[in-house]
Amino acid sequence: IDPSLDLFEEIERLKHKLNAVILAHYYQEPDIQDVADYIGDSLGLSRQAAQTNADVIVFAGVHFMAETAKILSPQKQVLLPDLAAGCSLADNCPPDRFAEFIQAHPGHLVISYVNCSAAVKALSDIICTSANAASIVEQIPADQPIIFAPDRNLGRYVSQQTGRDMVLWQGTCIVHETFSERKLIGLKTRHPGAEVIAHPECEPQVLRHADFIGSTTALLNYAGKSTGEAFIVVTEAGILHQMQKAHPHKTFIPAPPQNNCACNECPFMRLNTLEKLYLCMRDRTPEITLDETIRQRALRPIERMLEMSP
Ligand code: 13P
Ligand code: SF4
Repeated sequence: IDPSLDLFEEIERLKHKLNAVILAHYYQEPDIQDVADYIGDSLGLSRQAAQTNADVIVFAGVHFMAETAKILSPQKQVLLPDLAAGCSLADNCPPDRFAEFIQAHPGHLVISYVNCSAAVKALSDIICTSANAASIVEQIPADQPIIFAPDRNLGRYVSQQTGRDMVLWQGTCIVHETFSERKLIGLKTRHPGAEVIAHPECEPQVLRHADFIGSTTALLNYAGKSTGEAFIVVTEAGILHQMQKAHPHKTFIPAPPQNNCACNECPFMRLNTLEKLYLCMRDRTPEITLDETIRQRALRPIERMLEMSP
């Protein structure tokens, strides 16, 4: 790329030329969030992908999110700046092993967290996100056994919230499992007035210190509604950009990971850069493509989710 190029201007120009919309997750680097047309959690991003009039969806997030956009909007071109932007939850739930797991639990309804591949979605009955998981589980008749996959921490949290026992796939998020309870307690001691707000993908020993637990959008909204002045934020650090922007007079403190080698930034999300975003729009590649049979099978449980979450 010509170093004299103003990438912000170029991206704006390409947005108009392609009739493109840029959808970004809160864990993207601040520059990407600043050029996005919409920033949101997985549920909000899916809704935008289903509704948009744009011809091209540029998805600044990870692969399963862009894939979900393509499942919902097959006639649109969906671009992802870096195809290697995966997710530990999706990667650790291969469809062949998941099919065996389902077979081993006959009669179970399969609820899968959206952080999974299209092939796993195609094996599921209902998809959920961190924003609607508990409410979806509550809508299932009490005598219906449930498999919940792939995040065991979200599954455990939803079980606590709903009082439902569920068979859990043992997946974890490599970012949220690194937060340290000991360091969090140390931080709370140093900031006694701060509220702890956490994502449900965190381990239970971390979640038990939280004053509020929710999806990324829910955490951002809570920080606005709360009368509190300071927050310890136990999720990927990218969201601090919007929190600080929306509430400049409040203090947001990122929670520390276990050790100095671990990081509170998602290595997959951070594969996307402003340069790669520009290049994918200029060259209209990499593009998400899907087998049509898988897409149609994966669409049904996503539509069920959208119907079940007002
Ligand atoms: P949200 O849907 O809460 O934004 O979470 C997505 C995610 O990948 C969390 O790690
Ligand atoms: Fe996946 Fe965790 Fe990254 Fe979210 S933060 S995309 S769950 S690896």
